[in-house]
Amino acid sequence: MSDNKHGHVHHSKSTRDILNAETVLAAAGLKSGDYFLDAGCGDGFISIAASKIVGDDGKVCAIDVYPQSVEMVKEEIQKGGISNIEATVADITDKIPLKDDSVDICIMANVLHGFVANDEVQEVMGEISRVIRPEGTFAVVEFIKSEGTRGPPYNVRISPDEVEDLLINYNLKTTETREVGKYHYLVKAVNEK
Ligand SMILES: C[S@@+](CC[C@H](N)C(=O)[O-])C[C@H]1O[C@@H](n2cnc3c(N)ncnc32)[C@H](O)[C@@H]1O
Repeated sequence: MSDNKHGHVHHSKSTRDILNAETVLAAAGLKSGDYFLDAGCGDGFISIAASKIVGDDGKVCAIDVYPQSVEMVKEEIQKGGISNIEATVADITDKIPLKDDSVDICIMANVLHGFVANDEVQEVMGEISRVIRPEGTFAVVEFIKSEGTRGPPYNVRISPDEVEDLLINYNLKTTETREVGKYHYLVKAVNEK
């Protein structure tokens, strides 16, 4: 769990058991050779699946502020003999340690609602928009906004419309919204900067 000065606690709990990484990555349009960023990667189950898709010509950058999560990713990388994932500890509201326009596809899964609750959207989205190349993709995965299902409290969940309205402020234009699994939706946007 990462503590936060603004009040909302981002849970480090993985959604591995209820979210299919391959379904998410297919919906986002990930392909061989892509440079992929998993922003707030948790235990890295999406990054591990992405590494197989991007292959030797691509690269996966898994970033989390919680050092124990990044350690878990590093263990899986070592166990699997994976050479195309770089797992890094960083606070993405401060600085994403990547160059401008370097990322083809960025996924932020089950993280954005926390930045909304903590009033950190501007900081994080400035960085996200900076690192995604023009015409690159930003895909947000969030828990469907309904009560009584697994996930964060209803009052901090965000709807696809709220995500779309938020992203357009950063020149990220929504091209598609779809359900990915029983509990989640994905909003896919193109970087029109
Ligand atoms: C609910 S978990 C989701 C993990 C993973 N994406 C998943 O879907 O299973 C939220 C993650 O965001 C990370 N996180 C929260 N604030 C962050 C920040 N400022 N910079 C980087 N990672 C952050 C947390 O440490 C946590 O691992």
